[in-house]
Amino acid sequence: DKNCYILGIESSCDDTAAAVINNGVVLSNVVATQQIHEEYGGVVPELASRAHQQNIVPVVHQALRKANIDKKQLSAIAFTRGPGLMGSLLVGTSFSKSLAMGLGVPLIDVNHMQAHILAHFIKAEGQNTPNFPFLALTISGGHTQIVKVTNYFEMEVIGQTIDDAVGEAFDKSAKLLGLPYPGGPLIDKYAQKGNPNTFKFTKPKVQPMDFSFSGLKTAVLYFIEKQVDKNPDFISENIEDVCASLQFTIVDYLMDKLKNAVKHTGITEIAIGGGVSANSGIRTALKETETKYGWTTHIPKFEYCTDNAAMIAIVGELKYKQHVFAKNDVMAQARMKL
Ligand code: KG4
Ligand code: ZN
Repeated sequence: DKNCYILGIESSCDDTAAAVINNGVVLSNVVATQQIHEEYGGVVPELASRAHQQNIVPVVHQALRKANIDKKQLSAIAFTRGPGLMGSLLVGTSFSKSLAMGLGVPLIDVNHMQAHILAHFIKAEGQNTPNFPFLALTISGGHTQIVKVTNYFEMEVIGQTIDDAVGEAFDKSAKLLGLPYPGGPLIDKYAQKGNPNTFKFTKPKVQPMDFSFSGLKTAVLYFIEKQVDKNPDFISENIEDVCASLQFTIVDYLMDKLKNAVKHTGITEIAIGGGVSANSGIRTALKETETKYGWTTHIPKFEYCTDNAAMIAIVGELKYKQHVFAKNDVMAQARMKL
C-alpha cells in the first residue's frame, strides 16, 4: 500500500509529539518540549499532563500541515500506550481514540520502549537498518536496558538498571554541580573540553549485564562536598575536568555492560537509542568498536534518539502492515513490559 499514511502521537513524559510516516519515510516530525519543568529541576506530572492538553491539537495540526496531507488521507492513528506518566499517557490515548473513531480508521497502540528500538527502521539518508538478531542499548532519562531483538516484536530484556536510569545519573550529577535541568547535555558539553583522567569515580558492581547508578550519584555528592570544603571555588574552577571524568566513568560502564552482553549472546550487531545516545562520549566509544572488535553499530539521527513521534509512527506502520490493531476500549498503561 503506497498511500499508507500513519499518524504517530507521543505523550508519555514531558514532550508532546506528532509525526506522519509513509513507507518508512518521515514526512513530518513535530515535538513541543515543555519548558515549565526546568524551574522545578525535573518533570512535574500534573504540569506535564496540562501542557499536553494545551499542545496536542496544535502539534497534530502542524504535523499534518508539514507532511502536506489532509487528515482524511490518514490510514491509521498510532499512539503511545505506555510505559510513562499516567496523566500524560491519558491525554494522547484519549485524543487518539477520538480521532481514529472520528476518521473511521484503525487505532494502533505502541509500546514506547519498543518504539525507541524500532526507530532504527525509519528510513533516513546514510543510515542502514539493523539486521536481526541485534542488541539494543536503550538509554534515557527513564530507562537503561540491554535488549536482545530477534524480530520486530520479539524482544527480550537481558540486562537493566536496578535503580536509577543513566539519564538520571547525568541529570542528578549536573544538579549537584549547579547546572540547570536537564543537565545531561551540559555535562557532555563541558566534558568535551576537560581531561577524563583527572578524577576517579568507582563503577558500581552488579550482575554482568545489569546497571546501578544510585551509588554513583552519592559518590558525586560526597566528592563535591569534600572538594568544596577545601576550596569554595572548586566547581567553577574544575567543571570541565569533573564533567569529563564523570562522563568517562559512565560511558566506560555502559561499554563494559555491552561487552558482557556481546560475550553472553555472541551478537555483534548493536543499536543504541534513547536521549542519552546523543552523548558524544558514547557515540565515539561505540563507533570505535567497529575497528576494535568488528562490531556493527547503529546510531540513529539525534531527533529519533530523544522522545519523538516518528518512532511511534514507524511501529504503527509495522503493525498496520500486519493488521495488528487496538480495540477502542484500549487503556493507557503506566507500567508495561517490552
Ligand atoms: O529519551 P529522552 O529524551 O526522554 C526520556 O527520558 O524518555 O531522554 C532524556 C535524557 C535526559 O536525562 C537527558 O539529560 C539525557 O537524555 N541526555 C543526555 C544528552 N542528551 C540528552 N545525556 C548525556 N549527554 C547528552 N548529550
Ligand atoms: Zn523515551
